[in-house]
Amino acid sequence: MKRISLTQHLIEEQRLHNNIPAELRLLIEVVARACKTISHAVGKGALGEVLGSADSENVQGEVQKKLDIISNDILLQANEWGGHLAAMASEEMETIHPIPNRYPMGEYLLLFDPLDGSSNIDVNVSIGTIFSVLKAPAGMSAPNEQAFLQPGSQQVAAGYAVYGPQTVLVLTTGNGVQSFTLDREMGSWVMTQREAKIPEDTKEYAINASNARHWFAPVQRYVDEMNAGKTGPRAKDFNMRWIASMVADVHRILTRGGIFMYPADARDPDKPGKLRLMYEANPMAFIVEQAGGAATNGKERILDIQPTSLHQRVAVFLGSKNEVDLVTGYHNEA
Ligand code: AHG
Ligand code: MN
Ligand code: MN
Repeated sequence: MKRISLTQHLIEEQRLHNNIPAELRLLIEVVARACKTISHAVGKGALGEVLGSADSENVQGEVQKKLDIISNDILLQANEWGGHLAAMASEEMETIHPIPNRYPMGEYLLLFDPLDGSSNIDVNVSIGTIFSVLKAPAGMSAPNEQAFLQPGSQQVAAGYAVYGPQTVLVLTTGNGVQSFTLDREMGSWVMTQREAKIPEDTKEYAINASNARHWFAPVQRYVDEMNAGKTGPRAKDFNMRWIASMVADVHRILTRGGIFMYPADARDPDKPGKLRLMYEANPMAFIVEQAGGAATNGKERILDIQPTSLHQRVAVFLGSKNEVDLVTGYHNEA
């Protein structure tokens, strides 16, 4: 098998499509290198003293795990000095992180969920890192939060690393979705899938069903109809999976199809769903669309949403196109 490294892929993409200038390539390679470091820390587990809580809370009031903070620091340090970024924003930091004055300022903005699936860290289940890249607005002198508030359709790259039985990096720069497996001995990312395609139809769905009593009618209807199986209105049996790491659930969907849902529900009108638009929904929506799938908040395309704040939450329905269209239709009928 001919091995194509991440670097070779990025250079060839640039030659073919002229969409990965040198600074963006550096950015992607630095993020990928940071993910390698995180993967190494994750793999050490208790031996590396990285498990357990950190006795602190993030801006969303969630208890932080040690690995949330370690991963955040790894990404910050890796990306500060290269000259490719103007600023960073993270799920684990209240405000944006401008590039310190001692380093040159670049034209990109990097956003990340440093460690996705925190509840799975201590139980040795797949977790991941999600990232999104925007261009700083033209003429911006000093980066501020406003610069980040661009709809997901403006992303120039997005990706995730999943730390599972294998560490895999999934990437889009707007020309399909490529996957790279970490060769641990060589320390290199090797392309293992050139063009991920999500099947349009599926028999598999993912939702945290313990919230069923809080769901709104369109979600209730959609899930009830799937659960009715062969003799119900959908006339087929469905299977259910919920890993509680969005990265791992999305990776399964990218591999064999499915629909992932984290809907808004009746609990707290100020909290439209649990997932964060800028660090989770937008990058995943970009990847899923580039693989032929769809992503909505139940009503509209996630990538069309104009963000109003850095840490805003959003309902998410993504994956196999025909299923996302169906549940989105149920919301728009209601
Ligand atoms: P994070 O660990 O970054 O806070 O994200 C966890 C998210 C997402 O990965 C997952 O799909 C969801 O939360 C799981 O939520 P429940 O615990 O409600 O199932
Ligand atoms: Mn997350
Ligand atoms: Mn996280």
